[in-house]
Amino acid sequence: MEDHYNMEVLNAKVNLNISTGKLAGEEILNSKKFIKDLKNVFLNEEVRGSLTGDELVYEVQAYLPVEEGKQGGLFFGNSTVYPGKVDNEYYMTRGHFHENFDTAEYYWCVQGEGMLILMDEDRNIRAEKMQQGSLHYIPGKVAHRVANTGTGKLVFNACWPSDAGHNYKEIDNNGFSARLLEINGKPALITESGI
Ligand code: F6R
Ligand code: ZN
Repeated sequence: MEDHYNMEVLNAKVNLNISTGKLAGEEILNSKKFIKDLKNVFLNEEVRGSLTGDELVYEVQAYLPVEEGKQGGLFFGNSTVYPGKVDNEYYMTRGHFHENFDTAEYYWCVQGEGMLILMDEDRNIRAEKMQQGSLHYIPGKVAHRVANTGTGKLVFNACWPSDAGHNYKEIDNNGFSARLLEINGKPALITESGI
């Protein structure tokens, strides 16, 4: 039977598959990061450089319903970090501070196992375990990066302010103060002084 409404009701522009975290819709943007795009991100640049470069490390879907930089709007993302390592360092995102420094973000894990690595402006590090259903509030002024410590893909959704922006330069120049390495078969967060 046909639905009857006394005013126009539209279908949502975007569909989020709540089991897989995938976004579908005309306005969804997709980007991929391959090993060749991640120069100087991993500790062992020699090993990274010796790979073919075509290994997919992570991909991001984004829904940006308002202009970037607009105050008061919200963006939504779906990120997938693939399983793998460069030498003994887990595949991970580049990581960033927000350009508009004091803007927060939510991450929540849809599937897989990993670690959210958080670094404040004084380079203090902490990490939160990611597993299906884990919800992570990333406060403003805190850099964030995700590493996949499992054997399958790690999928997480995110929601952040449309005026947050991304500052990758700070991390390109100074990195995070700790790295997530596999040591004796287990993930270990090693500070820069211990590397
Ligand atoms: C947005 C956000 C995520 C990341 C994505 C990829 O503020 O934190 O959507 O952008 O997980 O990581 P980066 O941007 O560090 O390459
Ligand atoms: Zn962010």
